[in-house]
Amino acid sequence: MGIIRELSRSVIEKIAAGEVVERPASVVKELIENSIDAGARMIVVDLADGGKKRIAVIDDGCGMTSDDLAMCVRRHATSKISSEGDLWQVRSMGFRGEALAAIGAVSRMKIESKPNDQGIIEGAVVEIEGGELVKHSVAGSANGTKIVVSDLFYNVPARLKFMRSAAVEYGHIAECAISLALANPHLRFELIDGGKKKIVAAGVFDASDTKGMVARIASLIGDRYAASLAALCEDGAELSLWGFVAGEGRRGGKDIHIFLNGRSVKDRMLIHAVSSALGDGTMRERCPAAVLWLNIDPSAVDINVHPAKREVRFVNSGAVHDFVKAAVRKALSGALQSPCFKPAEACDDPGMAFLQKIVSPQTGEKFFEHTGSSIGAPGDNDSFKKSFSGASGGDFISKPEVVSKHASLPSSVGDVQCEACGVENSLRTIGQLGLAYVLCEDADGSFVIVDQHAAHERLGFEELKKGYGKGDIPGQRLLLPERIELSPRDFGYISENLQLFEAAGFELEPFGGTSIVVKMVPALLSGMELSEIFEKFASELEIFGTANSVDEMIDRIFAVIACHARVRSGDRLGTEELCSLVKDVERLGVTHCPHGRPALVRFAPTEIARWFKRD
Ligand SMILES: Nc1ncnc2c1ncn2[C@@H]1O[C@H](COP(=O)(O)OP(=O)(O)OP(=O)(O)O)[C@@H](O)[C@H]1O
Ligand SMILES: [Mg+2]
Repeated sequence: MGIIRELSRSVIEKIAAGEVVERPASVVKELIENSIDAGARMIVVDLADGGKKRIAVIDDGCGMTSDDLAMCVRRHATSKISSEGDLWQVRSMGFRGEALAAIGAVSRMKIESKPNDQGIIEGAVVEIEGGELVKHSVAGSANGTKIVVSDLFYNVPARLKFMRSAAVEYGHIAECAISLALANPHLRFELIDGGKKKIVAAGVFDASDTKGMVARIASLIGDRYAASLAALCEDGAELSLWGFVAGEGRRGGKDIHIFLNGRSVKDRMLIHAVSSALGDGTMRERCPAAVLWLNIDPSAVDINVHPAKREVRFVNSGAVHDFVKAAVRKALSGALQSPCFKPAEACDDPGMAFLQKIVSPQTGEKFFEHTGSSIGAPGDNDSFKKSFSGASGGDFISKPEVVSKHASLPSSVGDVQCEACGVENSLRTIGQLGLAYVLCEDADGSFVIVDQHAAHERLGFEELKKGYGKGDIPGQRLLLPERIELSPRDFGYISENLQLFEAAGFELEPFGGTSIVVKMVPALLSGMELSEIFEKFASELEIFGTANSVDEMIDRIFAVIACHARVRSGDRLGTEELCSLVKDVERLGVTHCPHGRPALVRFAPTEIARWFKRD
């Protein structure tokens, strides 16, 4: 007898559901996308316990008949495509006919709906429990659809275990809901958690209502850029761009939101185009904030490779890059001169020039449609290629050996002398190279290069660990407590770990919305820019999860502090500072930074002799 058999329906459904539903935020994403496809103008997301207990999504879209309600929860059942040909021109957010079946398989789900049709006076309701239809009856529903998903993963213990705190799950939900609401300006959108309205964004129907758009953006992503947002509106042969930009966003493109044909994309080429508009090479230093809608002929872009794919492929990416960069640069140069709203009249076609094309795939209703005029020319491919190819960096003479002169780090800062050689400060400092490295000669004639940032990082890290071990990390109380505004997602991770921060020498408190107030920092961080550091903390906490021990988590926090607190490459160090750094490196036997990068490399005299063919 063979060993291969077909899986049971319930196992197949759980596997499929696992791919669609990872956490409460995936449910919210699928339900909001369905409401958008249904032509909703109003969507309310109402959560209990950050979505862990209950997620309700209510819309005023086209609704479903009683027959369709029974169909919509089945696998591969959709109204959005019907033939293979349709696959290549999908305009809706969904098309696989899988989301509701997947959500229903791993929760208790109730769908109430009534078609938005005068002829139908009664609505209907279905209830699904772990994939089984347990109820189907008439109901006195309002027009539109209301879906309530309770006890997500109640029947998948493995997934339930991985759910994080309500604050973290809420953060993920808010991030995805905000992105979908930003993408669709015509939507009135509300996000409620535990009965409290967290986000309320009014819909903007008049495309030339710049003030309304700016207010909407502020209600979704905060008002820090509202005063300096400039409108932009550019039209090319096969593509068009509209939206808002401000000169000072967070580094790394964190405040750049790009919607390509209505979908949020995190495409590196597009983010580079926006970032480089401030001047080439400044991405690391300065970066714009932007909310941009890019519309492009669907045949010139491959976005449907995978429904969740956020990177896309363009037929002519160089032209798209240059077009976006030029448009953003033009808007920013205006904005930098006068930090006020650029009137929408600056567009060619003020009434309908806003380029978002939103057509409900289920109803065919058009919300905004761009009439199109041709200005601006696509750029050449070469400049884009050049800007991406970069210098590959030649090989060094030979592969330097990472020093392991001392077998391991002394376990605490208390070990003053180097056990391996017994000599204090055998390294002689020669000087500084490229504001990043300290060049030294060792007693045996070896050439030693110390990476000043990596070495400082390690020293700071050891200092913090020593303080933590003693239960006393030197702190610096801030004269004025600092308020830091975080993204909902980052806020979730920070507020979930307040005790960890207390142990690491901070004093902080949640402060309304998604901000925190910092009252005390470890002394190493005094005078440092805190918001970026907290963003880094949040991403470390997200990556390393809760499964790790407190000590491991504290180590991650210390590594971030040390990285920001100490001398960075690019700092010129005086002779005394160089010598004291080298002395500490030797004293503690520093070999690597806390992230594992080498802090020191050594070339033996014989190797140097070989470079010069003296051997
Ligand atoms: N809020 C809603 N209003 C009206 N119809 C809806 C709504 N939600 C779902 N539907 C209907 O139910 C069908 C199934 O929804 P489901 O999300 O499972 O699949 P889909 O949206 O077609 O594709 P995908 O799995 O890619 O999301 C949809 O095609 C649509 O016809
Ligand atoms: Mg769907």
